[in-house]
Amino acid sequence: MKHTPMRTPIATSPNTLSSTPRFTVRVDGTDLHFTALACLTLLQSAEGADIAGLTLESSCRNGTCRACMCQLVDGQIAYRIDWPGLSPDEKRDRLILPCVAYPMSDIVIRLLV
Ligand code: FES
Repeated sequence: MKHTPMRTPIATSPNTLSSTPRFTVRVDGTDLHFTALACLTLLQSAEGADIAGLTLESSCRNGTCRACMCQLVDGQIAYRIDWPGLSPDEKRDRLILPCVAYPMSDIVIRLLV
């Protein structure tokens, strides 16, 4: 089940936010982009940026439901969980789950919806 993302409080201290690396996330095929903080998931950064026209679907927000799945066209991400709900084939095809993916570089993503 997909729904419009809800704003959630970010449990990160101001010191962490000011010192964390920042990366640019571009949405393939559009002019949309936002800044992603290394200490936040891509979904949290996208929602915090509040970019008109950019909506990342979400539901569980814990890497289980796959509602947020998109494709990593360029760049690197990391997960802090062992099981992001992706098959080996999907990982090979560079599909990612932004609700649990943290940026490690500037990134280009492709939305699947
Ligand atoms: S919102 Fe469920 S896997 Fe990302």
